[in-house]
Amino acid sequence: MNPNPQIIVLDAGGQYCHLEARKVRDLGVYAEVRPSETPAAELAGAKGLIVSGGPGSVYDAGSPTVDPAIFSSGQAVLGICYGLQLMAHLLGGEVRRGEKGEYGMATLELDDTSDPMFDGLGGSRQIWMSHRDLVGRPPEGFSVAGRTATCAVAAMAARERRLYGVQFHPEVVHTAHGQEYLANFVFRVCGCVADWDPRHRVPAIEQEIRDAVGHRKVFFFVSGGVDSSVAFRLSTRALGAERVRGVYVDTGLMREGETDFVRGIGGLAVEDARELFLGALTGVTDPEQKRHIIGEAFVRVQERVIERERLMDADWVLGQGTIYPDTIESGGTAKAALIKTHHNRVAGIQKLIESGRIVEPLRYFYKDEVRQVGRELGLPAELLDRHPFPGPGLAIRCLCAPGGAEVETILEGLLIPIRSVGVQGDSRSYAPVLAIDALDTGRATELTNRLRNVNRVIAPVETRVPVDRMAVRASCLTAERLARLRRADAAVRRLSHESGYDRQVWQFPVILIPLGTADAPDSVVLRPVDSVDGMTAQSVVMDAGLLRKMCAAIFEIEGVAGVFYDLTHKPPGTIEWE
Ligand code: XMP
Repeated sequence: MNPNPQIIVLDAGGQYCHLEARKVRDLGVYAEVRPSETPAAELAGAKGLIVSGGPGSVYDAGSPTVDPAIFSSGQAVLGICYGLQLMAHLLGGEVRRGEKGEYGMATLELDDTSDPMFDGLGGSRQIWMSHRDLVGRPPEGFSVAGRTATCAVAAMAARERRLYGVQFHPEVVHTAHGQEYLANFVFRVCGCVADWDPRHRVPAIEQEIRDAVGHRKVFFFVSGGVDSSVAFRLSTRALGAERVRGVYVDTGLMREGETDFVRGIGGLAVEDARELFLGALTGVTDPEQKRHIIGEAFVRVQERVIERERLMDADWVLGQGTIYPDTIESGGTAKAALIKTHHNRVAGIQKLIESGRIVEPLRYFYKDEVRQVGRELGLPAELLDRHPFPGPGLAIRCLCAPGGAEVETILEGLLIPIRSVGVQGDSRSYAPVLAIDALDTGRATELTNRLRNVNRVIAPVETRVPVDRMAVRASCLTAERLARLRRADAAVRRLSHESGYDRQVWQFPVILIPLGTADAPDSVVLRPVDSVDGMTAQSVVMDAGLLRKMCAAIFEIEGVAGVFYDLTHKPPGTIEWE
């Protein structure tokens, strides 16, 4: 069991609630996330509460709220963004509907720095705003603590009652000294003690595994990613290697050297399912159909393993590498829950979960904490610092097309008839890709905002022939194309690692698109992104010298007509292309 949280973040539907809890944990204070409407009585053990941001308006029917009793319980409360508005609204202040909203940097002027909440943070400071509505007048008994040029109540305080609200986001990196606002709240206002260190939890996690498993045994489907590998290692330490079985499915859609890398983790059995996956994908070009076929193939392989190894017998328990953001459904985490579904779709696994025959040793930990635990266990840095890699593997980075559609010249650039996914509102949509002639993310953003039907913009870095002489070629997932992509991905990863660039970006997909000529039918797209959790992401343009080296290495691979750069932020583009 983890300790009782000193801080509880009430999730009002924002993607930021986990970031807030994580930032508090970074201060050495254990924090958990709870649904915003949790009754005040259930929150009484915490020293302080944070009401998170969220996309709603306090005037929308059904928008998240909190139990108003939290404001009179004597506990310290900090409302962030929507949390501030909710606090103002419920306590009798005035919230104004915003028309356009305010997104991005602003300058905060703090009035009163004698309040422990704002101690040491006086003067003008850069903050980051993302809101539509704003507080027009604070509730009775509150004073305005800070303002910006466009927001008269950017911070408010009722010092005696220990109630605070800020319109900006202290938890994001763009807010200068953001962590100091949180530290003031956590230590100065709430009086928390810094005693949380995930590395110290290892013995407790191991005990928890022993308690949950009892005399039984555990099996894992391990992906080679950080979470499942750390959970697997913890279990083998807790129970002994003979009571833990780990199976890695080789789908044939993995990166170069991946299966050997996974073998290096130790104690894993490799299930060779290459023929099953590649056979089922032959001739398929539709992106959704590809994903569906891969999901089905995973189910079949897992069922095959479960049956052969008799893992449904009462003496087996399922182990999973679920981490904290996967366990809570909210605006920001619904996607993460979806991503993990392929494991839970197997009927046998579903049964195990329903009957509680499951152990998830990392379910209270964030990714960074999982890495710290992994380091404590002596797992190698190459494993712990890996970028995320999608379950369906290279299949969703190897685009296919029926062919026959022409590249079209429009005023803004070249419209390439490849179906690539993006997010519009809450849904995924497929649209053609626009190629422009400069590595300009600002222009890409302007174009995706303006042009309906385009959710991704790329620019050529180097091509063997002019882009308007290339065509989208009829193509599907072949061993030859997968090998081409695998080589390009390996070359980029090698250079990225050697230069240290892989530590600067959050993820760096390399995509093969069927755009080229009869001799060189494909092109490679580079997609380095910066992100916090993959929910939103920024395209980042790399140093020209490194880019030149990557192009040179990619052009050594046969069949490549061009190297392109993806300039699209998420939203509207997704990180992956399918
Ligand atoms: P998108 O493309 O939605 O990706 O912006 C966000 C993050 O999720 C990863 N991703 C997946 N991971 N199975 C996975 O295990 C999937 O089907 C899947 N699709 C996307 C993606 O690599 C990125 O880190």
